[in-house]
Amino acid sequence: MGATIRRYREGERQALYEICLLTGDSGVDATALYRDPDLLAEVYVGPYLRFAPEHAHVGVDDDGVAGYVLGVPDTVAFEAECERSWWPALRERYPTDRFAEDSPDWRIVRLIHNPPTASPEVVERYPAHLHIDLLPRLQGRGDGRRLLTTLLDGLAAAGATGVHLGVSLLNERAVGFYRRMGFGEVQAYTHSLVMARTL
Ligand SMILES: CC(C)(COP(=O)(O)OP(=O)(O)OC[C@H]1O[C@@H](n2cnc3c(N)ncnc32)[C@H](O)[C@@H]1OP(=O)(O)O)[C@@H](O)C(=O)NCCC(=O)NCCS
Repeated sequence: MGATIRRYREGERQALYEICLLTGDSGVDATALYRDPDLLAEVYVGPYLRFAPEHAHVGVDDDGVAGYVLGVPDTVAFEAECERSWWPALRERYPTDRFAEDSPDWRIVRLIHNPPTASPEVVERYPAHLHIDLLPRLQGRGDGRRLLTTLLDGLAAAGATGVHLGVSLLNERAVGFYRRMGFGEVQAYTHSLVMARTL
């Protein structure tokens, strides 16, 4: 039997932060890469729980929360909200000289100080965006499909006409999964792809 899929509940934030780190190196455990275990999730999980908790869903099995999907229907509005009330506190907590230059933590801190924004041509057609991460014990059993479908239904109900995401080219499994779920490549960079689909 698959995991139970339900809305994220307050109090599960730390579990999601841990899943983010345990899947944060192109789909596999990133614990050894980062000195600060919360840093990745402060970028890829925290603001979604704060600004779009209604779209956050989790997969739960007998041992607890083991996967999540997060998304926002309007990426441009979300980026503006983060600029107003997410990044400023993090920039104070993580000054640019906090970690050794070129270290993985330093690269994330650089993102906090200069967050990349989605391209206008992508958000015009695909205004929503998402993140999905499942612990190994949930992977490959249909729970990713069910979590993603739940999110896409919610984004469509919120009025989004399309959705995009970023994925590392090293993460072949995720690229295959997204293709299977109807996403196609819309932008290619040296190490990553932007994939998207209409809703
Ligand atoms: C990528 C991930 C979300 C996929 O979820 P999953 O639960 O493993 O995938 P599912 O079992 O639900 O697969 C859904 C469908 O995609 C297909 N699929 C999955 N991986 C595939 C691949 N690499 N190539 C082709 N098809 C694939 C499955 O066969 C299935 O097809 P079907 O439902 O039509 O039979 C999950 O493995 C994961 O969280 N991995 C680690 C973190 C990660 O990489 N996150 C993405 C970061 S961008």
